[in-house]
Amino acid sequence: MNERKVIVPGGAGYIGSHTIVELHKSGFTPIIIDNLCNSSEKNIKGISEIIGKDIKWHNVDCTNQKAIDNIFELEDNIEGIIHFAAYKSVEESVQNPKKYYDNNIGSLEVILNSMKKYKVNNIIFSSSCTVYGIPDILPVTENASFKKAESPYAETKQICEKILIENNFSSVSLRYFNPIGSHSSSLIGDYSDDKASNLIPIITETAIGNREKVTVFGNDYNTSDGTCIRDYIHVLDLAKSHVKSMDFLIKNAGKHAFNIGTGIGVSVLQAIRIFEKSNNIKVNYSIGPRRIGDIEQIYANSNLAKVKLNWEAKETIEQAMISAWEWEKKK
Ligand SMILES: NC(=O)c1ccc[n+]([C@@H]2O[C@H](COP(=O)([O-])OP(=O)(O)OC[C@H]3O[C@@H](n4cnc5c(N)ncnc54)[C@H](O)[C@@H]3O)[C@@H](O)[C@H]2O)c1
Repeated sequence: MNERKVIVPGGAGYIGSHTIVELHKSGFTPIIIDNLCNSSEKNIKGISEIIGKDIKWHNVDCTNQKAIDNIFELEDNIEGIIHFAAYKSVEESVQNPKKYYDNNIGSLEVILNSMKKYKVNNIIFSSSCTVYGIPDILPVTENASFKKAESPYAETKQICEKILIENNFSSVSLRYFNPIGSHSSSLIGDYSDDKASNLIPIITETAIGNREKVTVFGNDYNTSDGTCIRDYIHVLDLAKSHVKSMDFLIKNAGKHAFNIGTGIGVSVLQAIRIFEKSNNIKVNYSIGPRRIGDIEQIYANSNLAKVKLNWEAKETIEQAMISAWEWEKKK
């Protein structure tokens, strides 16, 4: 039987490493391209330990056209690409937008050039719910228009989705909500330096004693307890959505976009309480002023992914919180 090769730029990262495990389980042969600029070779070792065999990977910068062409030249019969490689810190993107435009848009353009040259037609792109800006209607559906981007990071996701629409490739843009948790083995996870602004890593770092407290940015929003509301999706469920998308794309040429969330809005205070209860541990927190750039609330309508991809979130937020804490203790 032919190998079902999938090239995965950014596959050594947090979401990528979980997706590689799922691709392998489903019979694909994933090949990672990653320069480890925001991850660790430990994830590659962790993947190998989980799947019980070595995984092929290339330590290459995805903005290097010649080097990417060489990989496509080497690997014939590629079924598709799952493109994770990008920087992801909203805060850093505000301080250094050019770094984000160059890498996030630049890497996609390089990959598309190689796809064209080597006749690969299918690409799944890591988008984000930030493309919606501040949505008018909740839960937000894929039909909602893209509002003003709240950060250069969000703008790169909007631009990348537009680039995919304007090209001839078949594509799925997966609009992730807030990924949390880790593989139950704690052998793979988030090694990035960009966690300072994500709630769950802040909670786990506080619980372990590396931070004094969690600052809750504002409790005067128009929500049930006054704190911001997000849709936390277990990274295992998120990883599975990529495999479903690849299967779907191979059978359904065209342009597609799917929300990948649970549909459940959880406030910051609720998230802290769920973490405390799930892990039987207290977390020190205090209320601070609102943070610039935070939107009041967003959560997904993921019905389209259910209907078209046969995908829906299965893991609970409690399971995600337990695995996030295990990862913090073990990493
Ligand atoms: N984690 C989130 O909260 C979140 C939410 C929505 C969307 N996303 C998107 O999902 C994707 C994956 O996110 P993640 O959380 O796994 O981040 P991550 O930083 O853990 O993974 C990204 C990987 O890409 C690699 N990379 C970046 N630029 C590269 C380049 N030029 N060449 C080669 N490798 C490069 C990094 O080393 C890293 O391994 C990103 O595109 C991100 O914007 C993430």
